Amino acid sequence: MTLVVTGGAGYVGSVCAQHLLDAGHDVVVIDDLSTGHRDAVPAGARLVEGDVAAVADEVLGAGGVDGVVHCAARSLVGESAVEPAKYWHGNVVTSIALLDALRRHRVPRLVFSSTAATYGEPETSPITEDAATRPTNTYGATKLAIDHAIGTYAAASQGELAAVSLRYFNVAGAHAGAGGAPALGERHAVETHLIPLVLQVALGQREEIAVFGDDWPTPDGTCVRDYIHVDDLAEAHLLALDLLGQAGAAVAEAGGHLVCNLGNGTGFSVFEVIEACRRVTGHPIPARVAPRRTGDPGVLVASSARARAELGWKPTHTDLDGIVADAWAFARGRAT
Ligand code: UFG
Repeated sequence: MTLVVTGGAGYVGSVCAQHLLDAGHDVVVIDDLSTGHRDAVPAGARLVEGDVAAVADEVLGAGGVDGVVHCAARSLVGESAVEPAKYWHGNVVTSIALLDALRRHRVPRLVFSSTAATYGEPETSPITEDAATRPTNTYGATKLAIDHAIGTYAAASQGELAAVSLRYFNVAGAHAGAGGAPALGERHAVETHLIPLVLQVALGQREEIAVFGDDWPTPDGTCVRDYIHVDDLAEAHLLALDLLGQAGAAVAEAGGHLVCNLGNGTGFSVFEVIEACRRVTGHPIPARVAPRRTGDPGVLVASSARARAELGWKPTHTDLDGIVADAWAFARGRAT
């Protein structure tokens, strides 16, 4: 197939593009390189540099596109609170322009990067797709709005467009480059995610890690998250594209739009993550308990039963030390 990956110069998008290439597909990456990196676009993919809203019509209008994997987004929870316009325009308005282009050029498949942030503070754990969606930050609200928009476009398309929204939990780890290809991992100018921050301590780039609260109602008092390896995440996108190509599949029953959580189904606390990083790096990694971070839920763990049943997805990199080891190999490789 010929597939377009928006945000294919970013962390998740570049790994998805690599997996699609490895599976034998032709890949076109759309990325404005505002947060992504030109050298993260996998060799073999064609890069169209530009804003998704500006170039989607041209790329899809050229014809022959079988599907789009839409990863391009603004994704900093904290920033979304202070610069909402960047998120409503950058995420929602851009995605509507993409949906219009999909409809105009009759592209039949869409896989969308959605997020656990659409649920907000969960009432039950693990979180299923039927859980209430009450996002507690603007980032999550924009992703939920896009999920709703996709549902209505798919339903109104009379079978011309089918879509899967994948709600990622905590994506982590890195894709090991094969045959001299560069490894692909997290390279954010502003890093907010736990594992890369802890590894920065081991690399000597920061003195300690702040633990945001040790008074949560969890076994060790720190927040619990569901860490999913980026290679497992990318595989789910391939399976979603396969499903969208099958006539009479579950997605048709779901009105043309299937929502699936993606997580390992196992939660790890912040202290457990830091311990794993100590084991993997051999560094003592000083940690200091700090106040809770605004907007953090205590526990976020996915039920991925639907992804397993409908997509046939089975994560294979579920061991926390293994996820950290891959992130460490990537971080260390970039630091040397
Ligand atoms: N944490 C710390 N110290 C840090 C950074 C993080 O203790 O310096 C803690 C957080 O409080 C949280 C856990 O580590 O409990 C994980 O934090 P991350 O920032 O790595 O990830 P989040 O769980 O906040 O965010 C993830 C995704 C977001 C998504 C969100 C859903 O990365 O994109 O889940 O709530 F929006």
